[in-house]
This record gives sequence, structure tokens and C-alpha cells, in this order.
Amino acid sequence: MNFNLTEEHKMIRDAARDFAKTELLPGVIERDNQQQFPKELVKKMADLGFMGIMVDPKYGGSGMDTISYVLIMEELSKIDASASVIVSVNNSLVCYGLEAFGTEEQKQKYLTKLASGEKIGAFCLSEPEAGSDATSQKTTAEDKGDHYIINGTKNWITNGGRADFYLVVAQTHKEKGHKGINVFIVEKDMEGFHVGPKEDKLGIRGSDTHTLQFNDVKVPKENRIGEDGFGFKFAMKTLSGGRIGIAAQALGIASGAYELALKYSKERKAFGTEICNHQAIAFKLADMHTEIEAARLLVMKSAFDKDQGENYDTSSAIAKLYASKVAMEQTVEAVQIHGGNGFVKEYHVERLMRDAKITQIYEGTSEIQKIVISRSVLRN
Ligand code: CAA
Repeated sequence: MNFNLTEEHKMIRDAARDFAKTELLPGVIERDNQQQFPKELVKKMADLGFMGIMVDPKYGGSGMDTISYVLIMEELSKIDASASVIVSVNNSLVCYGLEAFGTEEQKQKYLTKLASGEKIGAFCLSEPEAGSDATSQKTTAEDKGDHYIINGTKNWITNGGRADFYLVVAQTHKEKGHKGINVFIVEKDMEGFHVGPKEDKLGIRGSDTHTLQFNDVKVPKENRIGEDGFGFKFAMKTLSGGRIGIAAQALGIASGAYELALKYSKERKAFGTEICNHQAIAFKLADMHTEIEAARLLVMKSAFDKDQGENYDTSSAIAKLYASKVAMEQTVEAVQIHGGNGFVKEYHVERLMRDAKITQIYEGTSEIQKIVISRSVLRN
């Protein structure tokens, strides 16, 4: 077993770290305040190959492995979790699904543009009454021979108002349950597709989250992904990889907050010495470091499983469950170490604390991860 990063992995991590510090940091507070989508920064991330990290270069991607993906996700998330979720959704939920299960035509037409970052993707599964219970899709896709007609509403869609291509999960044969679900590629200009209101969120405020409406949207049959009825498995497989990305995001949020708290504790004086010299603070830092290291090992293990071609459904759920808990708990501690300053925006930790919460909710709540893990435990 080798826990060391290769020289190449270190270079990738350092490039992402450098980008996050020089490009993401300067406007991050303003974007959070204004709920401003980082359009120009997405272009810069695309130039660095971050929008199609694991995609084969023949489809416009960077051809890197999953370890590289989580290293990039961690570094971006330390500074700006809004930017990193844009990257994560495009990579894990959209590019991965198209590359693994799309036809050659779909890859040429859509994946090449998404992986290069020329276009942005969104993944549309959640509905007003189908978030965790993903089989209860109310959105319908009626088979009309050479095309489908899609009707329904999708909620909380990341990149919702900014995407060019949407992977839309819909029910085609209600009586077949999860086997009657399909996924379709919808283009933003298709008639009947409407972007609804933007959500005013607690965290990841620089990302763009919308309700979407589909009113008799005509989608050609060749835009269905996989065999008829493959949609639910497509969503589950795709979400397993997505959970590695969100686990890495949670790790980044936690480690970003920890680094800020550590630095602050060495500068801030109270009772005649830097506060890190008080055991009350030193022990907090020890706990934070330990928890974050444990989360990192779980995130890396899951990425490693994926790179080795092993099943990663359970390890990704474990990594996401644990890393998101660490992110929530340790960002609260980082605010505490900062005292009154922690409550003020310019110190960044309050934003990281707000951003942490979503990692316990999206791409499956913590309770959903426990369903996945407990089923695996009971099966074995
Ligand atoms: N890979 C492949 N197939 C899978 C699978 C996986 N990881 N997980 C389940 N399946 C298959 C099962 O084998 C089964 O197939 P068969 O009938 O052929 O055996 C089928 O799918 C149904 O599986 P279950 O009976 O386990 O399904 P379920 O209804 O009990 O649901 C669940 C399981 C884990 C709770 C699932 O519904 C789930 O993950 N829900 C959460 C959905 C979610 O993450 N939503 C978040 C929205 S996306 C988002 O947040 C994006 C964003 O914008 C950031």
C-alpha cells in the first residue's frame, strides 16, 4: 500500500491550489454576497482542463484519473465551493454519464463540448416530490415513435440557468417502476424548456440553482441515453461517482476552514500569548486535523477504487457521509476559534460553514448514504 502522491498528482494539486488562490479568492466574498455565477472563472477553469478532468482526450477531456479529480476538487473547494460544485456536476454527473453510457454520436455532439468547457451541463433528477426517493419521478417522457415529449418540473438544479445541455430523468412507463425510467439530453433552446426562479440559498451562493419547467419538450429518440428503461441505473451509477466529487468538496471545505483557523490561532493573542498556545485551542486543532486526515483517506480510497475498476458504490457513500459530517463539524469549530471575527464575512470561515451544509444534502442526503452503506453491510 502506498499513501504517497505521485509527482504528477502533486503538480496537478499545486496547479489547482495556485489557481484557487490567485483567481478564485479575490472575488469570492462578493460573489457569495451577490449570488454571482463565476462565468469568466469557469472559462479559465475550462482552459486548465478542469471541466472534463477524467474524460478521454479524444472527446475533449484531460484524461486524468479520479485521484487527480479529487485533488482538484479539494483545492478549489478550500477557497470557493460554488466554483467547485460547477466543476463537480459537469465532470461527475454529466461528462461521466455521457462517456460511460452515451452513443458515439452523443459523445461527438455533446461530450466534446462539455469536456472542453465550451458548454456547461446540468443533471436533472430531483423534483418537488422526488429528491431522495428517486424512483418517484413525476416528469414524463411520452414515446412518440421517433421522438419523446417531456413534461414536468425539476427542482434545485445546479447550473440550472447556465447550462447548455441538460440530462433529464423522466418516467416513460409508470407501471414498470424504476425500470420505466429513462434519461434524455435536452438542449437549452428546445421549445417548451423554461428556466424557472433562481433559489436564494444559505450556501454555495455563487452557483446557479434553479427550478426548470418542461412543457411538451420534443426530444429526438437519439437523445435517450442507453437502452429503454436504463435511466434509473444510469442515475445511480452516475451519482456514485458524483458522491466522490462531493466528498472531495466537503474535504476541501473542511481543510480550507482548518488552514484558516490554524493561521489565525498563531496570530491572534489573548491572555498574553497566541491563542494556539492555549490547550483549549490546540486540542481543537488536533481534533480538526485528525478528522480531516480520516476523511481524506476515505475520499482517496473511493477515488482509488474507481481508478482500479473496483465497485465504488459503497466506498463513495462512506466517503461522502464522513467527509460531509467532518465539513459541517469542523467549519463550526473554525468559526469558534476565530471568535467574533469568525462571524464576519471577511474572515471566510462563516461562508465555509454555510457552504458545508449542502454537502450533507445534495447527491443524496446523509440518510441516503446510510441506506446505501447499510444495504451493503447487510448483503455481505
Ligand atoms: N448502480 C447500478 N444500479 C443500481 C445502483 C448503482 N449504484 N443502485 C441501485 N441500483 C439498481 C438496483 O440494483 C435495482 O436494480 P434491479 O431491480 O435490476 O435489481 C434498481 O437500481 C433499484 O434499486 P433500489 O431498489 O436500491 O432503489 P430504491 O428505490 O430503494 O432507491 C436509493 C435506492 C439509494 C435510496 C436511491 O433512490 C438514491 O440514491 N436516492 C437519492 C437520489 C439522490 O442522490 N438525489 C440527489 C439529486 S442529484 C443532485 O443533487 C445533483 C446536483 O445538482 C448537485
